[in-house]
Amino acid sequence: LAKIEIKLDDIPEGKSVTFKWRGKPLFVRHRTDEEIETEGNVDVASLRDPEHDSIRCTDPKWLVVLGVCTHLGCVPIADAGDFGGYYCPCHGSHYDAAGRIRKGPAPLNLEVPVHIFTDDLLIVG
Ligand code: FES
Repeated sequence: LAKIEIKLDDIPEGKSVTFKWRGKPLFVRHRTDEEIETEGNVDVASLRDPEHDSIRCTDPKWLVVLGVCTHLGCVPIADAGDFGGYYCPCHGSHYDAAGRIRKGPAPLNLEVPVHIFTDDLLIVG
């Protein structure tokens, strides 16, 4: 099965970059300190699909998710919506900077694929 290797240096802090992996969009976001703090402080009990930030982002600087809305599969837009993460324009789902569903019809958080980090690489798959 295809793996993808991404050079972490290619993604500046504060940016979400889209790659293609196994025919799907893959979002890799280099999170700012402010995003890390905001997402870490979210009350998990208030979430539709309750997951703490630390479960989703094993390295807090990086969010790695599939760019496939969990409602009906559209591709969300980065840096849009009410929660500082992603917005799906098809029916209005808002995701935060941990890829968690916060508002709109999507039932689940954006999927985090299996991934590991080396010194300078992200390897997904
Ligand atoms: Fe994203 Fe419906 S497919 S909100």
